[in-house]
Amino acid sequence: MHDIIEQLEAMRAKARMGGGQKRIDAQHGKGKLTARERLDLLLDEGTFEEWDMFVEHRCHDFGMEGMRVPGDGVVTGYGMINGRLVFVFSQDFTVFGGALSEAHAEKICKVMDQAMKVGAPVIGINDSGGARIQEGVASLGGYAEVFQRNVMASGVIPQISLIMGPCAGGAVYSPAMTDFIFMVKDSSYMFVTGPEVVKTVTHEEVTAEELGGGITHTTKSGVADLAFDNDVEAILMLRRFYNYLPLSNDEKAPVRPSGDAAKRLDFSLDTLVPDSPNQPYDMTELNVKVADDGDFFELQPEYAKNILIGFVRMEGQTVGIVANQPLVLAGCLDIRSAFKAARFVRFCDAFNIPVVTFVDVPGFMPGTSQEYGGIIKHGAKLLYAYAECTVPKVTVITRKAYGGAYDVMSSKHLRGDVNFAWPNAEIAVMGAKGAVEIIFREDKTDPAKLAAREAEYKARFANPFVASARGFIDDVIQPHETRKRICRSLVMLRGKLVENPKRKHGNIPL
Ligand code: HXC
Repeated sequence: MHDIIEQLEAMRAKARMGGGQKRIDAQHGKGKLTARERLDLLLDEGTFEEWDMFVEHRCHDFGMEGMRVPGDGVVTGYGMINGRLVFVFSQDFTVFGGALSEAHAEKICKVMDQAMKVGAPVIGINDSGGARIQEGVASLGGYAEVFQRNVMASGVIPQISLIMGPCAGGAVYSPAMTDFIFMVKDSSYMFVTGPEVVKTVTHEEVTAEELGGGITHTTKSGVADLAFDNDVEAILMLRRFYNYLPLSNDEKAPVRPSGDAAKRLDFSLDTLVPDSPNQPYDMTELNVKVADDGDFFELQPEYAKNILIGFVRMEGQTVGIVANQPLVLAGCLDIRSAFKAARFVRFCDAFNIPVVTFVDVPGFMPGTSQEYGGIIKHGAKLLYAYAECTVPKVTVITRKAYGGAYDVMSSKHLRGDVNFAWPNAEIAVMGAKGAVEIIFREDKTDPAKLAAREAEYKARFANPFVASARGFIDDVIQPHETRKRICRSLVMLRGKLVENPKRKHGNIPL
């Protein structure tokens, strides 16, 4: 018995060494942690329960029968983050470059299947050279098995990807289907085809970092949510982020008690919006000032900056925030912002997280680049997401709510539960100047007359009272009481139950 125990410990020690000290040193030399070090940092101390440590590949080609490493390049199992269950897999670059074999994929699938059975999130740490080249189609099949599970788990359990090394080719599509992607600058990248192929096909010279690094995907493509300076920072932020999320669509997000009173007033909000309607202001200030303890966890802060998304807590409850940002493009909706916000609203809806929307939107972005890019379909995504969404929806119009964008931004007509406006709000088909130039075209040559018409239009429509007279706005509120009024609304809405018609699935404009 003693021998067997020693043998087991020796086998475990071997598995823990992955591809060996030389490759571990090389990993450290690149500023990266190993697969196991990452899990040690991600999970509460002593909670990791590892599975399939002794799984090996079954490949006999290209001399692979002589090259087996227990665990086969991925560390899998479950553990706790701040006392809450999570399933994990962490690819080990020191073993065949973390490349995915059939057995490696089976290990990932096993934790995904178990996560679905018990209702807990999956966090995948990606650091891999892609399909195990020696295995051919067996490896491709393995990827597809993971993809299928990503799709089945979507909207059932939160799925989060940490990209901490290479992630290329078809391998990118598993993270792409997860809910959130965090990357590490300068040591991780995601692309469908690498710089070499790009050079051959399009003659573009581009580095891996430029093509698919953390900065690229958090500023240009919107593929990733956040990029961090190193592995440690990314993992610690993910531990913080995890606290906002429920374990599954059957559960509520955890409540974090706070000493910040729901009825706290903030008089600085009374002067947040400048007197001139064309002067911008920073909507982040409102997000921060309504949140418990001023804590706003922003996602995609560097992409489509004309809209802000992220999580706050209000009376301890997780709330998703969507807010137009007048500082960028005057807060116009465009392709990127619509896509960014739509996916976020759908995440919140799938996981029972109420959505609070702050509106200051002059309309959709005009122009050929937007039209040719399909703003009609992309803008419709946001409209669709809000209209489909059945979680509590509270909307506050802080200034402009013009045209179709008024409708889209969680209006009463899209089943907004509580719709507030600040007293200075302008809810109209368009701004007064544009409106009179169209309906009083004949006065165009007479500036005085036109100015009078504009003043008349402004007095009639550039306010929240026409909309509130129709019940489209439930109340016109003082800016300083915004937090109090939202908190009360969310408490009132806790028992909200709305069901969409039974159907296989809708057909969101993709
Ligand atoms: C098997 C692989 C591998 C792979 C790397 N290795 N990628 N083994 N299959 N896909 C091995 C290397 O042989 C090496 O083994 C070790 O991992 C480390 O690789 P290096 O090249 O030394 O590391 P580095 O210089 O950091 O370069 C990393 C890399 C490069 C950029 C990822 O290895 C690379 O380009 N690999 C191939 C990538 C690729 O083409 N993958 C297939 C993509 S298609 P030793 O023993 O020397 O340590 C794909 C399709 C998925 O993934 C489709 C899903 C639908």
